[in-house]
Amino acid sequence: MEMLEQLDELLTCRLDNRRKAVDPCTIVIFGASGDLTARKLIPALFHLFCEKSLPDPCRIIGFARRPKPDADWRKELLEDLKKYSKNLDLTKWDAFAASVFYCEGEFGDPAAYAKLQKQLQGFGNEKLAKNLVFYLAISPSQFAGVSEQLSKSGLLQKEDKNGFWQRVVVEKPFGHDLESARQLNQELTQFAHEKQIYRIDHYLGKETVQNILMFRFANSIFEQLWNRRSVEQVQITVGENLGVGGRGGYYEEAGALRDMVQNHILQVLALVTMEPPVTLEAEAMRDEKVKLLKSVRQVDPSQVKLMAVRGQYKEGVIDGQNVPAYRQEEKVKPDSNTETYVGLRLAIDNWRWAGVPFYVRTGKRLPQSASEVRIQFRPTPRVLFAAQCGPNLDSNAITLRLQPNEGIFLRFNGKVPGSSTEIRPVRMHFDYDAEFGAYTPEAYQRLLLEVIAGDSTLFIRRDEVETAWSIVDPIRQAWAKEPLKPEDFYAAGTWGPATADQLMCSDSHKWRKPHPTT
Ligand code: BG6
Repeated sequence: MEMLEQLDELLTCRLDNRRKAVDPCTIVIFGASGDLTARKLIPALFHLFCEKSLPDPCRIIGFARRPKPDADWRKELLEDLKKYSKNLDLTKWDAFAASVFYCEGEFGDPAAYAKLQKQLQGFGNEKLAKNLVFYLAISPSQFAGVSEQLSKSGLLQKEDKNGFWQRVVVEKPFGHDLESARQLNQELTQFAHEKQIYRIDHYLGKETVQNILMFRFANSIFEQLWNRRSVEQVQITVGENLGVGGRGGYYEEAGALRDMVQNHILQVLALVTMEPPVTLEAEAMRDEKVKLLKSVRQVDPSQVKLMAVRGQYKEGVIDGQNVPAYRQEEKVKPDSNTETYVGLRLAIDNWRWAGVPFYVRTGKRLPQSASEVRIQFRPTPRVLFAAQCGPNLDSNAITLRLQPNEGIFLRFNGKVPGSSTEIRPVRMHFDYDAEFGAYTPEAYQRLLLEVIAGDSTLFIRRDEVETAWSIVDPIRQAWAKEPLKPEDFYAAGTWGPATADQLMCSDSHKWRKPHPTT
């Protein structure tokens, strides 16, 4: 019996060690009636509540313009939860909902913030009133105004000397170019210290994206190969078979370069290629990412055509269904020039990666929703088997499959049984679900917990966001000057415009299709 108790204690202690220490706090969501709140934030918070990861006590306040009693908001949230989330234990909803409140107010009205202040004090617990997460799920043009009001009302303090903390979470897009990102950074840092600002990139909350670092730095066999001496080329594909759906208005302004490359793809690239950080602390990690992003070669405006390809989807067929062209989507101009596909050839000018091409592509309405990083190694000398095997003698590759069917594949050549010397590629396959079970926490779950725990490792630092903009800005500027050409269009359900093949810098380089999703 005693042994069982000790074992139990040990296991609880291990679990506690894995859990982050979290202080009682209130999470105030600006933009409470928006899509992000319903689809991502509330499901993530509810999940955290069910697994007892939220602080105890913890309160959630939704701040938005429309008047609404708490009970109505809770009801709406529950309906959305049933619609958008699976595998939730709804028997716990009432207990969770008892901590959820609504605050009606205009973002620019000081009286609304006084009301919020009063509501917080009404919780009767100093920590709930002063340890605050402000989640700005609103348009970026409102970030600075809301932060200013929060600061003026005393809810957001740059240095809280009494041991309380306030944090501001901002969603992408963080600016629309380098200039606007700098300005936004300047405005926000008037009201909050950089360490209080959490810029979200939800890709960093994905388990498989985090695993890139574990894979690289917790294994000695691969890291030795992770450089220009062994790697011939790297391909990063983030494909989506969905179109822009109801987000045409936003997407018209953004386009694939801003929507996916400036943030998610450059983050993945940085994790795949950065040097090992000195420690796992936020600043050490982010220093290395910034250093890497600074060594991504800036595309010379005169070279944009050679290094970057854009495309826009026409009508086509996805999963046997006819789908409309981008220009026919809701809130999209019939002569829109917005790109729904981007292909790039990037170069990293540092000691480790000099000379290795990084082919990157992302697009809407591609044949597959699949994201992966393929590290293609240099071929063996073509002396022994080339004659017999010809093109079958593919070079080795490691694929980090980010989603779906998360896993890692190692591709190498093996002998086909029999008396001939036939060789063909075979695969070793690590599958996340098979190894760890099918539960993969949602990115927002992890990220919200990190904010509450005050760990900014998985968030984008000021210099990081600005450096990322400086990589995409020259491309964006060159594209803005010219309309799309007929060859830039691709049929929905295909791998983008044919011009994307021209990015390859060698005849032996070809875009590789992601592994099948089933
Ligand atoms: C978002 C983009 O940031 O990421 C969307 O705005 C895109 O356009 C989405 O569809 C992709 O995220 P995920 O997690 O589905 O790969």
